[in-house]
Amino acid sequence: MTASLIDGKAIAEEFAAENALRASRLRAAGTVPGLAVVIVGDDPASRVYVRYKALACERAGLASWVHALPADTPQARLVEFVRSLNADPAVHGILVQLPLPKPLDARAVIEAIDPAKDVDGFHYHNVGALVVGEPAFYPCTPWGVMRLLEHEGVALEGRHAVVVGRSTIVGKPMALMLLNAGATVTVCHSKTRDLAAMTRQGDVLVAAVGRARMITADMVKPGAVVIDVGINRLPDGRLCGDVDAEGVAAVASRLTPVPGGVGPMTIAMVVANTVHGAEVAAGIAATGPTRFA
Ligand code: GUN
Repeated sequence: MTASLIDGKAIAEEFAAENALRASRLRAAGTVPGLAVVIVGDDPASRVYVRYKALACERAGLASWVHALPADTPQARLVEFVRSLNADPAVHGILVQLPLPKPLDARAVIEAIDPAKDVDGFHYHNVGALVVGEPAFYPCTPWGVMRLLEHEGVALEGRHAVVVGRSTIVGKPMALMLLNAGATVTVCHSKTRDLAAMTRQGDVLVAAVGRARMITADMVKPGAVVIDVGINRLPDGRLCGDVDAEGVAAVASRLTPVPGGVGPMTIAMVVANTVHGAEVAAGIAATGPTRFA
């Protein structure tokens, strides 16, 4: 079998067009949707991601502000700054780029964000809503994966989905979303014994570990749909995923490339969540951006 690639870049463009349309309707009704991004310190990868998010907002006709704060910003000052964004009616989405430099307490900062502006879906309120399967802001990367799977007509109900990685940003919310969509879900991680025996059970396999090319062909069920969330830099500077794409393409039926797979979908979901926040603020949408088809 030779896997066909899932073109996340092209699919994200479709979502971007929908975001732009919704944003233009909002503007016509007097509301310019706005995203405030807070970045602390000068982590180069974080700076790149933040730039992409702001650019995507501009392209869709949103306002965006990137607030770059010094690495030695005190915790109280950061929390106070987030609260000022909560109070700003022009801001519909607030995103604090992670990781934060030490000794800042990311959890305390996230809890300071108004849950109605928490477009990352990291606040306990939104995490809890995801656990019980209710509409909320859902974390953008796993939510982008769900929209990608839906777009490609990948059935989940009754299928076995295996998630490799248990991070708060991707692995755990991914597992919950797949579970809420009716899949049987296994979550694997660095302590899992006989990882290959687990991953080989996956009709859908999501790799979110952050280790270059660790998912090899022998770990994949023939015909599986493989979603590669990893973005790793090789010693020669090239980007690659958590999946050994060349080998796995011979076994899987569908595969997301890196770059051009999940990454663009994450960005599209940041914009979609911000637009949704603005729609709720303008009274033209009910609370919660999410639905399961
Ligand atoms: N760092 C890596 N991924 C993310 C994300 O989705 N949101 C935020 N805020 N920070 C991140």
